Amino acid sequence: MDHFITPLTDACLPETRQILLDAAAVDGFISTRSREQFCYAYFGYYREAAPELFLVAFGKPPLPEKVLGYVCAVADTRNHPELYRLAPHIPLFDDLYDRFPAHFHIIIDASVRGRGVGTSLLGELEMRLRKSCGTSGLHLVTGEGSRCVNFYRKNGFTFEAARDDEAGSEPRLLFMGRQLREP
Ligand SMILES: CC(C)(COP(=O)(O)OP(=O)(O)OC[C@H]1O[C@@H](n2cnc3c(N)ncnc32)[C@H](O)[C@@H]1OP(=O)(O)O)[C@@H](O)C(=O)NCCC(=O)NCCS
Repeated sequence: MDHFITPLTDACLPETRQILLDAAAVDGFISTRSREQFCYAYFGYYREAAPELFLVAFGKPPLPEKVLGYVCAVADTRNHPELYRLAPHIPLFDDLYDRFPAHFHIIIDASVRGRGVGTSLLGELEMRLRKSCGTSGLHLVTGEGSRCVNFYRKNGFTFEAARDDEAGSEPRLLFMGRQLREP
């Protein structure tokens, strides 16, 4: 195996956070404050709220011996009012959280995408969710037509619901769910 998976430690925190910032760099940030808010919404909050579900993949030769990517999650979105504040789209899918309560974010470093690391991290997250709370399912929200949609379909996210946000932005928001057991 060219990588192993471990919970996030303080030692690899800066490197892991940088993976998020590198992925977001396309749009840039208008201020340090907006960058910190972004990091809190997609990284910091999860580290505080559910450190046991914050996992990093670390490379082994022939892959670089560094953090390759991470997944962070909460077991039940409805128990996290802070997420409703941080991510305005969360209330839009409230009716689906009974079937797909767990919510996650995943990012793999651009240099190693398409080499199975994302699939491996997702598998480990699912195993931990099943063990810790026997969750009925998990979900993510992305943009309709986004390249990552195929990755989720291949990983068993067969439920899809596309909805408009309040502003009617394009692309529409796409909720993708994977059911692990009957709720
Ligand atoms: C989407 C992502 C998490 C998948 O992880 P990964 O390790 O690259 O994926 P795996 O190697 O396990 O699985 C391969 C599949 O992922 C998808 N994939 C591969 N490279 C990708 C890329 N650069 N961007 C998006 N999806 C990609 C493809 O569907 C691929 O299947 P294929 O080889 O049959 O075409 C990762 O590519 C990534 O972080 N992309 C950018 C950020 C992102 O889109 N995050 C999710 C936001 S919802």
